[in-house]
Amino acid sequence: MGRFYITTPIYYVNDVPHVGHAYTTLNADALARWHRLVGDDTFFLTGTDEHGQKVADAAAKNGVAPREWTNQTSRRFRDAWDALDVSYDDFIRTTEPRHYESVQAFLGRIYENGYIYKDVYRGLYCVSCEDYYTLEASDDGACPVHGRPLTEMEEENWFFRLSAFEDRLREYYDEHPGFVTPETKRNEAYSFIKGGLRDISITRTSIDWGVPVPWDPEHVFYVWYDALINYLTALDYGRDDARVDAWWPASHHLIGKEIIRFHCVWWPAMCMAAGLEPPHHVQVHGWLLVGGQKLSKTMAAEGTVRLTDIAPVVLTDEFGVDPVRYYLLRETALGNDGEFSYEGIAHRYNTDLANNLGNLVSRVATVVATKCGGVGPAPDASSELAGEARQAVEAARAAWERFAPHAALEATWGLIGATNAYLERHAPWKMEPGAALDRVLGDALEVLRLVAVLIGPAMPGVATEIWSRLGLTGSPSDERADVALVWGRYPGGLAVVKGTPLFPRIEGAR
Ligand code: MSP
Repeated sequence: MGRFYITTPIYYVNDVPHVGHAYTTLNADALARWHRLVGDDTFFLTGTDEHGQKVADAAAKNGVAPREWTNQTSRRFRDAWDALDVSYDDFIRTTEPRHYESVQAFLGRIYENGYIYKDVYRGLYCVSCEDYYTLEASDDGACPVHGRPLTEMEEENWFFRLSAFEDRLREYYDEHPGFVTPETKRNEAYSFIKGGLRDISITRTSIDWGVPVPWDPEHVFYVWYDALINYLTALDYGRDDARVDAWWPASHHLIGKEIIRFHCVWWPAMCMAAGLEPPHHVQVHGWLLVGGQKLSKTMAAEGTVRLTDIAPVVLTDEFGVDPVRYYLLRETALGNDGEFSYEGIAHRYNTDLANNLGNLVSRVATVVATKCGGVGPAPDASSELAGEARQAVEAARAAWERFAPHAALEATWGLIGATNAYLERHAPWKMEPGAALDRVLGDALEVLRLVAVLIGPAMPGVATEIWSRLGLTGSPSDERADVALVWGRYPGGLAVVKGTPLFPRIEGAR
């Protein structure tokens, strides 16, 4: 068993958590839960990014000091993740003293190593991106992402010698083919490097809302420069070397495709400059897009509209927490863009959850109640379903391991479908009580036990509910996957609970 350190990007506090943020966080959560299940020592980090011009402007607009503003707004993310049953191990805020310490220690190290120097910076700046653009990269002087005019900035800044890392980054990419996945995103990152790297300005004097530069306190670090270091702050960088050594570089950064350059070019170079290994893996995901309706603060990007104002709570109120989790994890492969729609959730809910999983649970429990006095029989070691289950377990396991929650769920639903077909074939509701009936029901109960284990990372609440309906004690994540996922562990002789429908059908979904 190894160590598994997974992170989400830290979210800007001036945004309200929306389904796009939830998409990243839930994928990280499911992966963390899977790795805990297989017995990996797992550490799951999320948090909020609280410095920079954008946040300072939002605070000023609301008539409060930046610190007060971030105290109010960071909470919204924590609340959203709690409501979505997100099992983070640490929630970092970049305004915490521990972060200031780690940023100053890390950048201090890079400074001592000679990779930081002073110069004058002139450039076009987009406050929404918190990033500079060259005129060529702009849309006639406007931000290519936000469409707003860029501001001319001229400042005496400290610079990071990114250009010194071009060769080492290329080598790193060549020697670590799995550093950035999927492959298309790796190629994108690699082509940034091949296109030539310019040094970057890493400090500001125009604002004071940031982490002070220890060797030049007139300056604060540029927000991206402090933000990336959060991944090390949470490991107590600068305070506890043994903890950093234990967890770094066993890290997996899950990020959206718009922040590839920061994570796949700057961040590994910064690590190299500080004398650390680059992170182990960056998994890039696409955007959830909405087909043009129901949006307010949206932006035109790549000819489509980005989803920015659907609060997760609107969906969980209507569908329940686990169905929303399921939809977001199941619908889109990590790496691709996905179309998010209300109709899409309602469709998945009615077909995969109500008709397949819910129906399997309810028909098995009903027949156990009517034909077996409510006591579930044990499975058959040589059941025709055992082979099917083994294949599904293997496929799901492999998919979780390669950061493909959608494929893990697809494999699990393949088993659910096969089991529903098995029940149709044998029609236990028409059979007389006896050994043959017990065999069919025992097999179906065993599949449900396996399904509860397999869906646990995606739908922890539903998994535990199924588990207790089967008469099992504890929860499906109590045993390690290599033990729990072996066919035949449903003991039989347990009281099976019929309960109310797990997923009442949604009629006339709007
Ligand atoms: N603060 C920076 C990240 C710093 S990490 C050291 C940032 N924050 S953000 O709040 O703007 O975006 C964070 C992440 O939210 C994005 O990388 C992306 O993962 C996710 N998403 C925001 N909108 C999204 C969609 N519409 N779809 C999918 N994910 C989206 O960037």
